[in-house]
Amino acid sequence: MLLSDISQKIQRGDKLAMLTCYDATFAKLMESEGVDILLVGDSLGMVLHGQTDTLQVTLQDMCYHTRTVAAGARQTVIMADMPYGTYEHDQELALQHAQQLINSGAHIVKIEGGGAMVNTAKYLIDRGISVCAHLGFTPQSVNQLGGYKIQGKTESAANIIMQDAQAMSDAGVSFVLLEMVPAQLARTITQSINAPTIGIGAGADCSGQVLVLQDLLGIYSGPANKPADAFKAPRFVRNFLSETGSVQSAVRAYIHAVKAGTFPAPQHSY
Ligand code: KIV
Repeated sequence: MLLSDISQKIQRGDKLAMLTCYDATFAKLMESEGVDILLVGDSLGMVLHGQTDTLQVTLQDMCYHTRTVAAGARQTVIMADMPYGTYEHDQELALQHAQQLINSGAHIVKIEGGGAMVNTAKYLIDRGISVCAHLGFTPQSVNQLGGYKIQGKTESAANIIMQDAQAMSDAGVSFVLLEMVPAQLARTITQSINAPTIGIGAGADCSGQVLVLQDLLGIYSGPANKPADAFKAPRFVRNFLSETGSVQSAVRAYIHAVKAGTFPAPQHSY
């Protein structure tokens, strides 16, 4: 499937189901179940490496996992995160790093932040790289944001996210991913901008949804150095494995629930 096929789905009003994926076995399984986009997320720093955040993930890590995902899924759009420190300072370097991800098998790269990152997104897009802009809670800024917190709660904070989404859409991004923002704000953004939105903790009215694989399976229990019973899954997580009994049917149920508009439900939203 190409990015243009995804655009046609959105024009038909279909919801997009995206999942994080980090290896060939899951990529093959997810492709066979019909997931629209595989995200090689830098969440792999947390769910595979056991770290407390995504900040130590390297470009080499991302290229390695992107290659393994691309080996397992030949027909599905693959999005890869540009890791922390690889795109923020220098647009030419950002282009070289994005090209490494594309050479590893990604079709589109994701960068975090609005504001100063709008010009970087445009620089990449003008040079043939498709870009997704990640707004709202941006995990690479977790320290600046003071932890894993919902964003855009006040009118002024919501306006900034709205303006960033508009600017990224005008710059030509293929998607705007909204993480942990009020459902009402995500709805307004989705109705206002040209780019399709993909939500995680952003309510049901985005153009599509994404979930971290380990959250969908209910197997993530926090960083390696913290006790599992100290971990509380975020509100937007739903354990599809416990509902279905197998990995394959959990992925299938997630895709079905996203397409049917039953996930996320109000209890998964802010
Ligand atoms: O890295 C990741 O998995 C992500 C999701 C949280 C959207 O960016």
